[in-house]
Amino acid sequence: MPIHQYRVFGNPIHQSKSPSIHKAFAHATHQHLNYQAQLVLDDEFERTVTAFFASGGKGLNITVPFKQRAFAMAQMLSPAAQKAEAANTLYLNEQGQLVAENTDGMGLVRDICSNLGGELTAKRILVIGAGGAVRGILQPLLAQQPLAIVVANRTHSKAEQLAESFTDLGNISACPMAQLQGSFDWIINGTSASLAGDLPALPGGLINPSTRCYDMMYSADTTVFNAWAIEQGAEQADDGLGMLVEQAAQSFRLWRGVLPPTAEVLQALRRSI
Ligand code: ATR
Repeated sequence: MPIHQYRVFGNPIHQSKSPSIHKAFAHATHQHLNYQAQLVLDDEFERTVTAFFASGGKGLNITVPFKQRAFAMAQMLSPAAQKAEAANTLYLNEQGQLVAENTDGMGLVRDICSNLGGELTAKRILVIGAGGAVRGILQPLLAQQPLAIVVANRTHSKAEQLAESFTDLGNISACPMAQLQGSFDWIINGTSASLAGDLPALPGGLINPSTRCYDMMYSADTTVFNAWAIEQGAEQADDGLGMLVEQAAQSFRLWRGVLPPTAEVLQALRRSI
């Protein structure tokens, strides 16, 4: 039998950790598969996806900048992909339809609740940012039934629009950053500010001694956001490396029907960054 083929499509793609993560999952679960990173040019995305599945390919991960286009191509959408309006995972179902899933939010929730021993249910959560990364996590976060999610973004109008489009799923609202009041149980940074070493302009008083913070970015050193969180007295601040591994595990489960163990993969990845 030919070996099953998987790819991650993106541009750029050389930085992708997905091949090593999926290779480790395959090893741990005794699955035989081939997973590679592939650079896809902007005007060739749809054609490359179609050709991949037509040639027998089993599954794709999709990363920047193609997640919205992957969503647009799909014939079937998971609830998370539908609300995210973006997909990071594609595969064909038994009817041969292209299915889009977004495992980013599931990955975040699993990292927080399983790996980090956190609790989101009935908690007050501040989410910072209103771009694609935040849109991708709100459905799974709301599925945990937090007490409230407040979205705050540098450009407030974007936070308002985003929160509005999720009000059917739970208690979610937007608040201008400067008007945030009271402390939160969780503060999740979903902005790309950390990439540039920037910190969103947050007021003081958001953090109490039991506040947990999570930066969806990851880095070898403490991120600027997490350094701020600790300085403000947060109980704990974690970065998004676990989310990266857990979203991959959810894709693997969808494709292979088995949820791979993640702890060792995460430890090895942490040592390598
Ligand atoms: P992504 O796909 O990573 O979410 P995006 O859709 O471009 O990327 O969104 C980037 C997010 O990071 C936005 O919420 C952006 O705020 P604006 O909507 O005001 O642009 C936020 N962001 C980026 N740099 C930031 C900075 N230096 N300070 C605060 N927020 C920042």
